[in-house]
This record gives sequence, C-alpha cells and structure tokens, in this order.
Amino acid sequence: MKKLYNLYEDKFKTSKTLHEQAKKYFPNGVCHDIRNYPPFPMVTDKCEDIYMHDTDGNKVLDLWMGHYALLLGHGNEAQKIGVERAIEAGIHHGTLNTLQLEFAEIIQEAVPQLELMRLCTSGTEATMYVTRIARAFTKRNVIVKAEGGWHGGNSVLSNGVVPPFPKHKKIPESEQTISIPFNDVQITSDILNEYTNEVAAIIIEPMLGAGGGILASPEYLKFLREYCNKTGALLIFDEVITGFRFRFGSIAPLLGTYPDLFTFGKATAGGMHIGLYGGRKDVMNTITTQKLFTGGGTYSANPMTMAIAIETLNRLKDMDYRKLNTIGDNIRNFLVDKCQKLKIPAYATGFGSYFCLHMLTEKIEKPTPHHFMTLGDKQMETDFKVAMLVNDVFTMHAGGALSFMHLENETIDTIKQAYQNSFQMLDII
Ligand SMILES: Cc1ncc(COP(=O)(O)O)c(C=O)c1O
Repeated sequence: MKKLYNLYEDKFKTSKTLHEQAKKYFPNGVCHDIRNYPPFPMVTDKCEDIYMHDTDGNKVLDLWMGHYALLLGHGNEAQKIGVERAIEAGIHHGTLNTLQLEFAEIIQEAVPQLELMRLCTSGTEATMYVTRIARAFTKRNVIVKAEGGWHGGNSVLSNGVVPPFPKHKKIPESEQTISIPFNDVQITSDILNEYTNEVAAIIIEPMLGAGGGILASPEYLKFLREYCNKTGALLIFDEVITGFRFRFGSIAPLLGTYPDLFTFGKATAGGMHIGLYGGRKDVMNTITTQKLFTGGGTYSANPMTMAIAIETLNRLKDMDYRKLNTIGDNIRNFLVDKCQKLKIPAYATGFGSYFCLHMLTEKIEKPTPHHFMTLGDKQMETDFKVAMLVNDVFTMHAGGALSFMHLENETIDTIKQAYQNSFQMLDII
C-alpha cells in the first residue's frame, strides 16, 4: 500500500502543500468534512465539462459532479447564459422577482404536486423548514427519519445519521426525532406503533444517498403512505438528490407513492445554491394561517440562482433520461459482476445514474442499509479512493453520479478501466 500512497503523494504534491495551508484557515482544512480524506485531498484549480484540474497538471474524470448537482457538466452553456442573464438583471434583488416566477412555473409544471412552494438556499434549510411546517400543521412533535438518512446539517434531523447511534431512541441533539430502519416494514411498523399519536411527519429519501445508494422499495413507501393516511402524520420525500436526477421532476411516479411535502435542491438549480420545499396547499398554507416563520434567507430566490436554474431546467427538459439511467445501470452491472470476483466482501448499489460500491469487513448474504453503515471497511474505502485518483477518476462512496456529459462510450470505458486498475493495485481481484 505504501507504493500506492507514494504514487498519490507524487502525483498530487502541490495539493499536499495547499491542504496544509488550508488548515491555517479551516478545521481539517475544509468547509465540508466529506471533502477531506487521507492522506490529503486533491485541491482543484478548475473544473470543466466532466473533468477536475489541479495545479500539478492532473486532469481527473469527475464522478462527484459538485455533490451530484451538475447534470450538464461543469461550466456548461446553461450556467454561462444564466450568469449573463443574472448580471443583466442584477444578481441579488432581495425582492419578489420575475425570474423567480419563471422558475416556479417550470418547477410546478414538472412537479404538479408542488401546489405551493418556498425557496431557500440549501437542502439543509429546506428540510429544516419543512419539518417545522409539519409540526405546526399537525400540532405534533415527533419527526421520523431513516437510519442513514442524510437531510443536511440541521439539528432536528441529525439523529441516526451515522453509527453508533441509539436505535430509534430520542437523543438530546434532536430531542423529538426517531429513526427507523430503511426498507424494513416490520421493525418500522413496531417502532411507529410506539409513537402513533405523536408523529408529525416521516421524512425519507426515496433513495438513500449518503446512506449508501439504496432505493426505497415500493412496498416500504406504500406502507409509510398508509401509516400517514391512517394517523394524520405527513409524508415528506427529501428529493434533494433524487429530484431531476432520474427523470424531469420527482422520482415519485417511478415508485408509485406520493408524499404530502417535498424538498428539492442540487440538480434543480444546475450548480447554484438552492433549497425548495413545498407540496399540499393546505399544509403549506400553515405558513400564512399560523404566521409560521419559514424562509428567512437573505439570498432566497436570488436572480443568479434563478437564472441558472431556469436555463438548466429548460435544457434538462429535453434530455434523454432513459439513456442516462441505462448507462448508470451498465456501470452498476459491471460493478456487481466485479464484486463477485473480488477477494473482499463488496456490493454495488444505486439506481439509474447513481452508483456506489461498498467494501465491508464481513460477507453478508443480504446486506441491509444498516450493514452498509456499520460494516464499511474504512481503510479499504480510503485506499480505493486514492487508487481511483491515481487512475484519474474522482469517486464518492466509491462511486458517483453521471451527468449527461458522461455518456460517451470512451468515458464509460475509462471509468470501468479505472475500477479494474484500482482493484488490481489493491490486489483485491
Ligand atoms: C438527501 C439530502 N437532503 C438534504 C441535503 C442537504 O443539502 P445541502 O447540502 O444543500 O444543505 C443533502 C445534501 O447532501 C442530501 O443529500
């Protein structure tokens, strides 16, 4: 392994120096801990199309694409035209503005269930506000989330994000939040039954993103929907990753269950900071009827974000999502096949254009999200990330999310070859 790390240090030597400098300003040298990994992170200087460039002259194929936000590639035409439009309009108005109306019209057409919506500047804010609305509407306090569910850094939803955590117990940081095991109807039902008249909302990612790329089963979502119908709790889909990634709009039509409320972010604004929350009119009207405080953001619905989002959405509308998802399936199938040949327990997960590779410390016949969260071989995952970077591919969770710019055969071959080379470098195939 020493040889691998020597190769990395040599290839990315300036990044090492820059990361040291960054530590003078930022804890761990970063502003988001996922961006820091041993021995030191690659420091980008410029990103274009599907590539990251650093100051050592490396050009690395990007599978992270700005936290999965960029479906049209780095520095794309939608961004350029959007910036021009925003500069023309004035990048920040702090008012109700016409670009905001244009954006809302596109979004509502794509997701008609967004009867009313509000905009903010991050997914974290969106999930914070939406749970606040749910509590006010239902006049109940308990928020239910999935183990491994990541809804951003807000305190209300921090329960059960990473193990070890007290399973489905209320904990001080998120006093009234309990967590349920994703896709396990029986245990979820038992837990929910303990809190029936207290649950304000269940917030769920239709595909666990940071929690391991696991799609919710249609049965699980149906069960949650029925529970909410029966008890008056609200069902919230956190679509910050899934929205506009797998089709133009919500993933709900693909899974057959619709929530009461949604959150969107990332791909919705083509690389700009956005959070969007909304859904049923009667629920969203709580903001008016109860004078509920939501949406305090200075930069909410700012023209720069709106203009880039509009240009991006207008292009995404005409994109071939079926092709994007099929190529994602192709890469995932390649990984599934490799996993069977690896000397270590490994599993490929994901859906459509999103794929992850899990390397575990023990072989599990039918791994659950809980296994992926608790049995990850951290050293192997780090070694693998470094090996992929040495092979010029930037991964996250040993996988990534494709954009529409990744669909050339040559690109797909490059990705597969980098996986194969990395497995060989680590001597696990
Ligand atoms: C499903 C989900 N919800 C919410 C968030 C938080 O969004 P943001 O990082 O924009 O605050 C994320 C971020 O990764 C996410 O994946």
